[in-house]
Amino acid sequence: MNLVSKIFKEAIIQKENEYLKKNIKDKWRLNFHIMPPVGWLNDPNGLSYFKGIYNIFFQYSPFETEGGLKFWGHYQTKDLINYKYVGVSIYPDEKYDCHGVYSGSAFIEDDKLYIYYTGNVKLLGKHDYIESGREANTMLTVSEDGINFSEKECLMKMKDYPKDITNHIRDPKVFKYDDIYYMVQGARKYGIDRNNDIGEVLVFSSKDKRKWTHTSTIHTKDIFGYMWECPDLFNLDGQDILITCPQGVKQVESIYENIYLSGYFLINDDYKNKESIEVNNFTVLDRGFDFYAPQTFLDENGNRVIIGWMSVPDTEDIHKNLTVDYGWQHCLTIPRELSFKNGKLYQKPHRNLEKLREKKIFENKYSNNTLSDNLIYNDINSYEVIIDNIKIDNNINNFEILISKGLCAKYKDNKFILEFVGDTGKTIGGGRNKRSAHLEELKNIRIMADTSSLEIFINDGELAFTTRYYPLEYSFKILGEMNITIYKLSSFKFNP
Ligand code: FRU
Repeated sequence: MNLVSKIFKEAIIQKENEYLKKNIKDKWRLNFHIMPPVGWLNDPNGLSYFKGIYNIFFQYSPFETEGGLKFWGHYQTKDLINYKYVGVSIYPDEKYDCHGVYSGSAFIEDDKLYIYYTGNVKLLGKHDYIESGREANTMLTVSEDGINFSEKECLMKMKDYPKDITNHIRDPKVFKYDDIYYMVQGARKYGIDRNNDIGEVLVFSSKDKRKWTHTSTIHTKDIFGYMWECPDLFNLDGQDILITCPQGVKQVESIYENIYLSGYFLINDDYKNKESIEVNNFTVLDRGFDFYAPQTFLDENGNRVIIGWMSVPDTEDIHKNLTVDYGWQHCLTIPRELSFKNGKLYQKPHRNLEKLREKKIFENKYSNNTLSDNLIYNDINSYEVIIDNIKIDNNINNFEILISKGLCAKYKDNKFILEFVGDTGKTIGGGRNKRSAHLEELKNIRIMADTSSLEIFINDGELAFTTRYYPLEYSFKILGEMNITIYKLSSFKFNP
């Protein structure tokens, strides 16, 4: 640890303790989601199961609630239920990363945790920071215990990337096949002019984890956004899949609704041996308002698990998170198990989270065409709902759930719709309005509801809708024919 990180460390601990001491009565603090101790959180980073412990790092700006200089905050857990806050593990303390320890990944081999990330540097002077003025260094630091990290190594600088790439290249994710290591990075390639820059993913390969060569580029035929962030490439159930976050794709109702997207392409070509891989048919991973920059990892049983950031960049003017007034902002999604079937990715809450079920508070078969009474009572602010055996009468569109006053989820004309309605909707959604997606048939729904977040999984995870919300009261009412079970959920346990 150098002098710069020592100074940062003291200041951060002081800031976190001040926040704790204030003992703010903050009803939006979540019960079973990872939040920043204070200040701002964005992408999950370095997700890994290493020596019997899960590491969940995250983009952390402790000093600024609206985001600023990025550090890697760090939680550890053995079971995804009981957590220890380790503190900041990686600081922007070197000339290669002095303006931010940006996103990256973990790779495990020989009992060592290899952390690859982007060291962000912004040069002084007159720059647009796209074509000039920004350095994105590919960095490595290694740990044997998951807590102490080696001297940082700068593996690639701007001069080592292809010449047709702007200054925007970042977020290395590393994996291995046969005896070769691969790294994917998100990139913004020069277009014919600044308005036509091209998002793509660069694949690098290496024999020793340190010396990397650009060997392949994954791209679309027509431009699909100007920048692709946070790539992740893995094989699941026999299918190669590239997750990435394109920016600059035209928003289309019920298809691409968020300002920046997060989703996946199927790769049906040999990226290990071919220089140019064309992909098409992008599928959005989560159709709600708040999902971005996800990363996957393997859990202790070898299941592919995904965690996302429960927000989208540059949405401050679109919707407001009411937690800002309390000195913090954003959280991660729950860990979700992924599977690939029917040509699609499915996601469902990680099985360990079933341990959060404290007691069953409601179970009934319901068949009525009037709105039910409130099914939640005693001020329960985190709960899980399981709905199945849904019978839809297409003539009267008889399926609706009111998740608190002002927020409605319904199935209508082959669309699943999540909508903040009326004046109450405006307040509790912080400016969010409506999201929808085509759905051939509605079979079942599972909702993980926390104090200020909702994660809705439809048809065993065929669709997901994730959103923050700030309810005036916790209530849950239904209209339609279905079986419904509701559990009160307990909280993650954090060390002091
Ligand atoms: C995605 C992102 C990444 C970058 C990080 C910086 O949200 O922009 O591309 O590494 O956030 O915090």
